Amino acid sequence: MYSATCPARGDGCLLIGMTILVLGATGKTGSRLVQTLRAGGSAVRPASRSGEVRFDWSAPDTWGPAVDGVRAVYLLAPQDPASAEIFVKQAVQAGVSRFVALSGREIDQFPSQYFQGMRAAEQAVRDSGAEWTIIRPNNFSQNFSAPEIWGGPLMSGELALPMDATPEPFIDTQDIADVAAVVLTSDGHHGQVYDLSGPRAISFASAVATIAAVTGRSMRFVECSPSEYRASLLEVGASEGDAEELNALYAGMRSGLYTVPADGVQRVLGREPIDFETFAARAAEAGAWSA
Ligand SMILES: NC(=O)c1ccc[n+]([C@@H]2O[C@H](COP(=O)([O-])OP(=O)(O)OC[C@H]3O[C@@H](n4cnc5c(N)ncnc54)[C@H](OP(=O)(O)O)[C@@H]3O)[C@@H](O)[C@H]2O)c1
Repeated sequence: MYSATCPARGDGCLLIGMTILVLGATGKTGSRLVQTLRAGGSAVRPASRSGEVRFDWSAPDTWGPAVDGVRAVYLLAPQDPASAEIFVKQAVQAGVSRFVALSGREIDQFPSQYFQGMRAAEQAVRDSGAEWTIIRPNNFSQNFSAPEIWGGPLMSGELALPMDATPEPFIDTQDIADVAAVVLTSDGHHGQVYDLSGPRAISFASAVATIAAVTGRSMRFVECSPSEYRASLLEVGASEGDAEELNALYAGMRSGLYTVPADGVQRVLGREPIDFETFAARAAEAGAWSA
């Protein structure tokens, strides 16, 4: 970890060339990464469309100021895969020497038309000539508290997905942030692809039952068919392409692609990942399901 700090402005003013750019800094992993890096004394530049520093994938004029004076980048995949390579090249030209790309577990196992943003981000950092590390997490525990993912349906009492009892070791985003912080600030991770998961695979029904128990709320999980799921997505405005990609994701999950726990958290952090019960207790305490 860096030991130097930048008390005056907190944005690398005394640490030009040591600042870490965190993309998606207001999101589930980025927000925790910013906190973790700052707690460790790093100079951080948190960036997104609405964050401390403006960065917008659809506005390339925001990219240059974001990477100016930056040494390392936490890279969230863009929607448009073509942007990944252009941005990474520009960042390297500006002096960035290390990338950590957030990707997804087993993306190589899916047909190539899916997850193109994450594939492009992976390829861009591999081809960058800089140091790179790819982290490939399972589905996040925090999806269950994110209103726009599974948290909203849970608050209405029922989460319906095209998912059977096949279990998954959901990962806490704090573990992803902790891994990313270590990889961004220490040597020895160049060229590594880390699969990250929680410690134990549980079914969606079991995950929902755990949250219902800690919150005292009535919540249930229901398995729906892929076509019912597609219809529900289209009803809330999703595109055909997004609905197809999400259905492909759940088909992969049903086939057991995501079931076996991975050891990336243990390899990088030397500790066990956070279990789902701890996630649920902490999120409930923080008011995730109390609105
Ligand atoms: N959820 C999962 O279970 C899971 C599992 C594996 C991989 N992933 C991958 O993780 C990534 C998402 O990471 P996350 O969950 O940490 O983030 P998130 O919570 O989904 O938040 C998205 C972040 O990106 C920013 N953003 C959105 N559109 C942007 C744009 N056009 N330009 C610049 N920034 C933009 C948002 O901030 P602003 O709104 O301020 O711009 C926000 O900080 C995705 O690539 C996803 O595929 C997710």
